[in-house]
Amino acid sequence: MKRSGIFIKHLKGYTAFSPATLPPANPPLSQDEELTQLLALANLAVGRLSGLSAIIPDPDLFVYLYVRKEALMSSQIEGTQCSLEDILNPDAEPVSESSPNDIEEVSNYVKAMNEGLKRLERIPVSTRLIKEMHATLLTGVRGSGKTPGEFRRSQNWIGRPGATLLNADFVPPPPEDVDRLMSELEKFIHDNDRIPALIKAALIHAQFETIHPFLDGNGRLGRLLITYLLCFWKVLDKPLLYISYYFKAHRTEYYTKLMDIRMRGDWEAWVKFFLRAVQETAEMAAQAATDIYRLHTKDRERIRDAQPNTTTILVFEQFCHEPILSNAILVKRLDSTKPTIQKALDALVNNGLIHEISGKKHGRRYAYQEYLDILTRDTNTKIG
Ligand SMILES: Nc1ncnc2c1ncn2[C@@H]1O[C@H](COP(=O)(O)OP(=O)(O)O)[C@@H](O)[C@H]1O
Ligand SMILES: [Mg+2]
Repeated sequence: MKRSGIFIKHLKGYTAFSPATLPPANPPLSQDEELTQLLALANLAVGRLSGLSAIIPDPDLFVYLYVRKEALMSSQIEGTQCSLEDILNPDAEPVSESSPNDIEEVSNYVKAMNEGLKRLERIPVSTRLIKEMHATLLTGVRGSGKTPGEFRRSQNWIGRPGATLLNADFVPPPPEDVDRLMSELEKFIHDNDRIPALIKAALIHAQFETIHPFLDGNGRLGRLLITYLLCFWKVLDKPLLYISYYFKAHRTEYYTKLMDIRMRGDWEAWVKFFLRAVQETAEMAAQAATDIYRLHTKDRERIRDAQPNTTTILVFEQFCHEPILSNAILVKRLDSTKPTIQKALDALVNNGLIHEISGKKHGRRYAYQEYLDILTRDTNTKIG
């Protein structure tokens, strides 16, 4: 028995790993000075981010955008190819080499995030919630043939494409252990211990990835779980943390740290990595929110100086919510007419605030570029 679990040799020659129950024991998690410091910094950053949603005029705007950013980053970790513009502008031709399937995959993630958080008003974070959200996540996309909403009944493995059970990087626990391990995880989630929420979320995410309870979608669901937990525990009052950004940027380290728990029982290094991820992404999110707030304030003043009509102001406010819009959508949103909206759009184009992006005569789309630039910071880097 290792600190993190046991290796089980199978008759067929492979070795599966079954994790020990949380929290880490023999010895318990060592909260050394570095870990304590990282925890304090992460808590501070998350607190600041949460506080922002109370002072910024339109926090739901950030929820809308940040959930999409998290969805995109989390899906990209395993190779989905699409851009934030594709997600914010779903009816248009993709601006990257994305397939409709990739866009749908990210949309499903957004759906699972929103549905899950809504469900949390009625049921706790539980295996039930996890299964329901897994079904939402995988319906109709990559992995949909792989029993959405149900725990696996066969042995799976993690490895390079083409790897087999025998040369896999990691073989999760045997299928007959999954139900028990997931109930134990659920119990740990609700344990009345004194483990700080961020540390607890780190432990739970890693344990979930080690159990790998589904045939596919474990990475995405395990990352959704982080947000569910932080909102459930009221560490965040809105899903403003796009932690997958950090996991994607440090993907190799993310995987190695997970492996080091299993192989060497190194929970501490993983928890530290996770706390850095929380701190960095919380600071980025707060910075982006501040930048967006400043940009909107500055541009509002610029428009006011040009003495616009009411529709122009209203149209601009719509762009402050969604940075990419078309005449048709605006007609619906503002219950107006095509020529009136077009006049307002032209005024904003002349002011240099928005520009046309489709290059087409019909179905033109306009983007509030400076705003889009802040939102898409670092999101379009392709992963290897
Ligand atoms: N050694 C490892 N190598 C790769 N991924 C790992 C490793 N250990 C755990 N994982 C987790 O497995 C996830 C991939 O599992 P998978 O079920 O395919 O999820 P998804 O379909 O959502 O990408 C990764 O995102 C990561 O969180
Ligand atoms: Mg997968």
